[in-house]
Amino acid sequence: MLVKLLKSHLGKYKVTLIAVMALQLVQTTASLYLPSLNADVIDKGIAKGDTGYIWSTGTLMLGITIVQIGFAIAAVFYGSRAAMGFGRDVRSSLFHRVTDFSAQEVGQFGAPSLITRITNDVQQVQMMVQMTCTLLIAAPMTIVGGVVMALREDTGLSWILVVAVPALVFLITMVIMAMVPQFRVMQDRIDGINRVLREQITGMRVVRAFVRERDESARFGEVNEALTETSLRTGRLQSFFFPIVLVVLNVSSVAVVWIGADRINRGEMTIGAMVAFLSYLAQILMSVMMASFMAVMIPRAAVCAERIQEVLDTAPSVVTAAMPVTEVATRGSLELRNIGFHYPGAENAVLQDVSFTSVAGQTTAIIGSTGSGKTTLINLIPRLADVTSGSILVDGVDVRELQPDALWNRIGLVPQKPYLFSGTVASNLRYGKPDATEDELWEALQVAQAEDFVRAMQGGLEARIAQGGSNVSGGQRQRLAIARALVRKPEIYLFDDSFSALDLATDARLRAALVPHTRQSTVILVAQRVSTIANADQILVLEDGHPVGLGKHADLIEQCPTYAEIVASQHSVEAVA
Ligand SMILES: Nc1ncnc2c1ncn2[C@@H]1O[C@H](COP(=O)(O)OP(=O)(O)OP(=O)(O)O)[C@@H](O)[C@H]1O
Ligand SMILES: [Mg+2]
Repeated sequence: MLVKLLKSHLGKYKVTLIAVMALQLVQTTASLYLPSLNADVIDKGIAKGDTGYIWSTGTLMLGITIVQIGFAIAAVFYGSRAAMGFGRDVRSSLFHRVTDFSAQEVGQFGAPSLITRITNDVQQVQMMVQMTCTLLIAAPMTIVGGVVMALREDTGLSWILVVAVPALVFLITMVIMAMVPQFRVMQDRIDGINRVLREQITGMRVVRAFVRERDESARFGEVNEALTETSLRTGRLQSFFFPIVLVVLNVSSVAVVWIGADRINRGEMTIGAMVAFLSYLAQILMSVMMASFMAVMIPRAAVCAERIQEVLDTAPSVVTAAMPVTEVATRGSLELRNIGFHYPGAENAVLQDVSFTSVAGQTTAIIGSTGSGKTTLINLIPRLADVTSGSILVDGVDVRELQPDALWNRIGLVPQKPYLFSGTVASNLRYGKPDATEDELWEALQVAQAEDFVRAMQGGLEARIAQGGSNVSGGQRQRLAIARALVRKPEIYLFDDSFSALDLATDARLRAALVPHTRQSTVILVAQRVSTIANADQILVLEDGHPVGLGKHADLIEQCPTYAEIVASQHSVEAVA
């Protein structure tokens, strides 16, 4: 998974990565050369009292150091650039994939997990790429080069390397093995925190109203504690790293000095060689540690890459046809042919065998008890989900064949739970038609019976709207959502229970004002109140997803018992009121 992700998104940084490798090669070569020059200074300069040699070699060492620093900086610069670019590209791929998802796929992952995947998981992989460029590439070069250089100084001490390096590798591997399983748990726990936080922040008012703050705090405390515990566990294991390296380094240094001293006494080795050997030993062991440290990051990044790839590999269930239709002959007609729908994983169909036709200028009302499938039916028309049987035709073309933009341009949806975006009243109204003039906006507001309260708001059209529209009342939000749909002048209006938050008088005024605006369009109107729909051209009565009646108000009262019941129940309520 990690390899797949790197292949698909790192390919365009190939040149940069090759450059980073070359820079690192020069940089490590330079740093490996230094101890051997230092040995020369000791043996040929200090031992023989040759100040000139000390000066010249010292200057050379300074020059090499500057080269090394320069190349190291360049390597980090380009490595980081590639890594950050990689992160940006993965995030953008994820974002585009997620925006193509229908409600079904979003539900499958859950919004909190999608957010973690796009932010934290990408960051982990990005960090791994960056660390690889800056540290991991250099480590094997240093290890191999260091061993060669150390042996050049003295072969008699080489067995110390043979013992020390495998010992260090073994010890660090043990620690890493214990850490790896913790990483998956850690990402899941971050998801958990996100989930609880989101729920609590969005449900804040409910939490307060039911005096659940204490319980909710406890719930948050629990997931927070769980994450802390996992982090601590990996942290504790990680804390073994440096002590292990230092012990191995110091023990082997003691061995070098001890045995080296003997060899120097016997004249088999120079002091400079021993000092250089110690330097190489330190460089090699540090690189081994660095490489193992990276070995820890790789499994974590792999877990994250898997979670990222999972999202990238999920195909949206609502897909565009291979040869989408963009032009149609008629305007404003809608036909449902025996449609059926089940939610994935649900046993029973939510809608069965629903058919009706509506042409421009007609109003079709849908009524039925709570949970009878009205919203589901409305959502099928703009393809928020696809029908599982039958077909929906807009202007004579199956919606699955239509080009999505062409379809959505024809539809003005007012959802049951209207959502406004943060911005101003005007920016929300222009959502579906960015070039609408102020006059058009006011006209739409007037029809939606929203003119008065928008005029009263501070700033009028430029009044601020908070995220989700939380700073206007439910009824105001609904009316702004209606105005937003009106501004588009679509061919098909879908009002999902959009009049329920209005009082009877406003409801009646709104419907009267709508009439001249919808002459050229089909109107589908879901409602609870019989009075709202009594003069519709046809009324569809739904009961548990089955159509039990289709016709005009007067006919249905006589022929459809379910409808008659609804009418009777509302009349008696009105009588009581
Ligand atoms: N995302 C979903 N996953 C699974 N089942 C769902 C989902 N949404 C709705 N349902 C089921 O589909 C049925 C119809 O729901 P729908 O929202 O269409 O009802 P409705 O007629 O609009 O109700 P209301 O009048 O309360 O708005 C419900 O019984 C519900 O259990
Ligand atoms: Mg509904």
